[in-house]
Amino acid sequence: MSVFVDACRKKPTPHTPIWIMRQAGRYQKEYRAIREKLSFIELCKTPDLAAQVTLLPVEQLNVDAAIIFADILLILEPLGIGFEFAKDHGPRIHEPVRTSAQVDAVAEEIDAADELGYVMESIRKTRAGLPDDVPLIGFAGAPFTLASYVIEGGGSKNYYEAKKLMFGDEGAWNTLMAKLSGALIGYLNAQIAAGAQAVQLFDSWVGALSTAEYARYVQPHVKRIFDGLDESVPHIHFGTGNPELYPLMKEAGGDVIGVDWRVDLGTAWDELGDVAIQGNLDSAAVLAPRDVMKREASAVLESAAGRPGHIFNLGHGIMPQADVDQVRALVDHVHEESAR
Ligand code: CP3
Repeated sequence: MSVFVDACRKKPTPHTPIWIMRQAGRYQKEYRAIREKLSFIELCKTPDLAAQVTLLPVEQLNVDAAIIFADILLILEPLGIGFEFAKDHGPRIHEPVRTSAQVDAVAEEIDAADELGYVMESIRKTRAGLPDDVPLIGFAGAPFTLASYVIEGGGSKNYYEAKKLMFGDEGAWNTLMAKLSGALIGYLNAQIAAGAQAVQLFDSWVGALSTAEYARYVQPHVKRIFDGLDESVPHIHFGTGNPELYPLMKEAGGDVIGVDWRVDLGTAWDELGDVAIQGNLDSAAVLAPRDVMKREASAVLESAAGRPGHIFNLGHGIMPQADVDQVRALVDHVHEESAR
């Protein structure tokens, strides 16, 4: 099989596997060259090029897994929620969903294999180009993170609009979360059927919530998703911002819990117990002098202490300012330092 999948299953591996969230992107000159010819969404919808971009970091960085080039917001189109990526402004939802009538207008279900067929085609094309020992990760956004975009209309600092619906109309909130969750189960299972060898659920903005809020308004939906996923591949459950949520996220599901840089990985792992763990070098360390980056990466490895089930990653996505040679040096360092 592969070092990455073995680690997800908590099996001992010859070295700690590493991949990097958002490993395909603007920090690569080859990516920027492709993006001069077409928009980000067009790139996602052109499987030949999406596969090419997905393979780029595998060749350039020697990472232990690939992640399909797509975006968490693509699922909104079949749900009937229009959006765009405005130049330099991130995502923008055309009509934010803020009333119960607007929630009712969101599609009841989607046919992911068909309506997001271009993602499945990208997965098939990427698999054909990958070495056998480098698995392909599929992914989706978690319902809270998706709902936050859908309700806020874009990125947010405080999530007041999302919380206004959550607190103000629990019925409409649950209907929206249930529609998103149902679609996500179908979407992730379609990715697995198309060839994804692991899947990651990104709950990037869940840290806006308290433990009580998470338990009441989010956890049942996320649990339903993990309960509904094909178990033939490992599931990664990633969240950032509020370390107190990790035990509740583990309860909701996932073979691997992805943690951000704010926690000590070993301490978080001790508290979580019997689960694999992914993370958690501060993305900013990649921008530091090389010796400092290596020192910080070694500290993460020391914190994991060679326990089976650690997948090295950054605490969140890599930034556009990163330098490819520096990222390659990180991957080599993790491989060398963890060789057993
Ligand atoms: O990891 C990978 O290499 C796979 C590709 C990937 C992208 N988005 C490509 C992308 C993945 C896994 C995502 C997930 C995603 N998308 C998340 C969760 C991950 C995280 O970082 O928390 C979120 C919150 C989104 C939503 C999103 N997509 C935002 C906020 C933006 C704009 C950010 C920016 O830097 O402009 C995007 C666009 C996006 N998604 C880009 C890429 C490479 C930049 C597009 C470009 O300008 O070329």
